[in-house]
Amino acid sequence: VTTRYFNFQGREYEFAFAQNISKEKAAEEQLKNYSENLENIINERTSEVEKQAKKLGDSQRALTYLLEDVNDSRDELKDAVDELEAVNKELESFSYSVSHDLRAPLTRMDGFSKVLLEKYSDILDDDGKHYLKRIRASSQIMAQLINELLTLSRITRREMKKEEVDISKIANIIINDIKKSDPEQKIKFEVQDGLIVMGDKTLLTFMIENLLSNAFKFTFKKDKGKISFGKTVIDDKEVIFVRDTGVGFNMKYYEKLFVAFQRLHSDKDYEGTGIGLATVLRIVNRHGGKIWAESEINVGTTFYFTL
Ligand SMILES: Nc1ncnc2c1ncn2[C@@H]1O[C@H](COP(=O)(O)OP(=O)(O)OP(=O)(O)O)[C@@H](O)[C@H]1O
Ligand SMILES: [Mg+2]
Repeated sequence: VTTRYFNFQGREYEFAFAQNISKEKAAEEQLKNYSENLENIINERTSEVEKQAKKLGDSQRALTYLLEDVNDSRDELKDAVDELEAVNKELESFSYSVSHDLRAPLTRMDGFSKVLLEKYSDILDDDGKHYLKRIRASSQIMAQLINELLTLSRITRREMKKEEVDISKIANIIINDIKKSDPEQKIKFEVQDGLIVMGDKTLLTFMIENLLSNAFKFTFKKDKGKISFGKTVIDDKEVIFVRDTGVGFNMKYYEKLFVAFQRLHSDKDYEGTGIGLATVLRIVNRHGGKIWAESEINVGTTFYFTL
């Protein structure tokens, strides 16, 4: 027992403590408290952990289901792509053989009309001759369309050989040829040198020729014009462009631009069958690239492509 003295407001007080006993008791009490607390904490944590584990189990199961779904969709997608490719191939060979087989009877139609016109011209009156001439003109147009379909088909079926291709060189060769139809040199050309890409040289030549001859066709009627071929960067990606300052087209009809036999200008003003850009699109697709265009009427058109 310890005795302590306290002075409070001038008076002395004496206190006796049963120090050791109370200490022990307090310690005991504290220990009890601790262990109770600890138990509570452990219980709380355990139930929390159990909850988390359940949640984790649930999300893991959900993830497994999701993965199964994704795998299923991927398989379905692959099947659909395979099927589509097969149908496409079938369609390609169908259109190829039809176009091919149509040529012979068409040539005979044109040939016999010609014979009629030449050998029986004294029997035929003017109307008869006129109709025969129209039959011939139509069969010739049809023959041209068929030929273009065949070219398109050949381009899609052609085996691809990828190599480094200097497309600036190709553009220059094509431009030299185009310039022959512009002796007054109304159109100026600008080609960025040293553009090298990976691709099939024949297909790329065909494509650049189509784009440059379109640019020329739709610019030539203006007094002056400029056609440029080069490289630029759009959204951090390198793209090749063919730009002209020609008559342009109405962007409202953009969806028709790359569709076979669709034209945004009349035959009367500008010759063509409307197969060029359909072919160009196929070539870009076969190279795994993209092509798009921007145009403003009477200001000009730019075609952009990646490969
Ligand atoms: N540079 C351009 N400027 C303006 N219009 C264009 C340009 N390029 C294409 N077009 C429009 O897109 C249409 C389709 O082009 P595409 O090259 O397929 O056919 P085309 O040139 O008319 O005929 P083809 O190429 O078969 O001789 C064109 O008729 C024209 O209306
Ligand atoms: Mg064309």
